[in-house]
Amino acid sequence: MDNLAGNIKEVVSLKSGVTRLTLTDFRNYAFLRVSPGLRPVIITGENGSGKTNILEAVSFLTPGRGLRSARLADIRRFTPAVIDADYLPAGGWGVSATVFRNGEEFEIGTATETGSRECHDEIRSFDRRIVKINGQKGVSQNELGQYLSAVWLTPQMDRLFRGGSQPRRSFLDRLVYAFDTEHAKRTSVFEHLYKQWYQLLKSTNGHADAAWLTSLEEDMAAAGVAIAAARREQIARLNRFIESTPDDVFPDVEIALEGTVERQLDSLPAVEVEDAYRSRLARERHRVLENDGVDGVNRSDFKVYYKKKRMPAELCSTGEQKALLISIILAQTKCQILSRGFAPVLLLDEVTAHLDDAKREALLTKIRELDLQAFITATDPGLFASLNGYAEFWEIKNNMVFCR
Ligand SMILES: Nc1ncnc2c1ncn2[C@@H]1O[C@H](COP(=O)(O)OP(=O)(O)OP(=O)(O)O)[C@@H](O)[C@H]1O
Ligand SMILES: [Mg+2]
Repeated sequence: MDNLAGNIKEVVSLKSGVTRLTLTDFRNYAFLRVSPGLRPVIITGENGSGKTNILEAVSFLTPGRGLRSARLADIRRFTPAVIDADYLPAGGWGVSATVFRNGEEFEIGTATETGSRECHDEIRSFDRRIVKINGQKGVSQNELGQYLSAVWLTPQMDRLFRGGSQPRRSFLDRLVYAFDTEHAKRTSVFEHLYKQWYQLLKSTNGHADAAWLTSLEEDMAAAGVAIAAARREQIARLNRFIESTPDDVFPDVEIALEGTVERQLDSLPAVEVEDAYRSRLARERHRVLENDGVDGVNRSDFKVYYKKKRMPAELCSTGEQKALLISIILAQTKCQILSRGFAPVLLLDEVTAHLDDAKREALLTKIRELDLQAFITATDPGLFASLNGYAEFWEIKNNMVFCR
């Protein structure tokens, strides 16, 4: 056994993951409590039975907007009566869990609370996500990353390389969060500042208070450069890892960042890049009024190449694109185990779609070798026969989970 495999084995033997999961008014579940083992869990059931919803619930135990990037209000369980009503009755949803990390147990949870604020002379209600860790309420979402980490692959990501750049940026940013827990905060601060700046320019037709605009631009440039630097670091880390541990089945990938700020960091010190970013924002205020965005970290793209074929991912076949994504998430998982000392939970939604038999079996073997917790959905349990006796098999029927 080489050093790398030995080190990974040592960490995962300490075990991490979710040992008890409770959903309340979450999507199709009024109440669900399950106690998964720290190993692969194959979740099967008919279409619409609630498989992906369980993965989504686990994803809410980590920082960010969950595996579907859904609106908080859409997650709360609808009943026919609610759908017919003109208003949504007050109330939220919750996900709580006992998590195990390196031999220690923690209680973590997230839920929504309905708040209200005054907006244009009327009181509007809004949902707010709150986090609870070991009984302490009101903790920052970022804190969740200290207890649980998740890496996911969903059918929506089958189109990741072909569509617009926003989902690719979010994918990359999630890879960064796992190593740098401040990154989630940085990206949401930047988004918030950009929105404020954009609205200010629009609402004043470019005649907003200059000091106010400059102060927003300074803050955006500082947050933007920190975002670009963290993304670059993660790309370099993963490329180094992939280079040193080529996979025998899944294609070797090379990943890269395309963006003005990121490129400038190649040759200039961060302070100069920040200065240039701030000046560009000030110079290009007029673009906002012309309904155009301004170039920056909110425009950067994450590029993936099939190394051996020297082919950009967007030109690869559907199955090849899936395999490239699997290569990235396997590298990320191993890297995370080695550098953070605990394994992420894998959330693999319909992962076998588009994979040929050899690749599917290779993936299952790798998951087994990694010996970590994974929630894997499928409509056909027969595809997972090779995990019989090792994995847990759950079937979902009538909003309940039956262990086979
Ligand atoms: N807020 C909500 N309240 C109640 N039900 C919801 C809500 N949001 C989604 N659902 C329902 O939850 C059900 C299960 O969805 P889910 O995506 O988990 O199914 P699935 O088992 O993964 O199906 P598939 O095999 O098609 O992927 C769907 O019928 C969906 O309409
Ligand atoms: Mg599904």
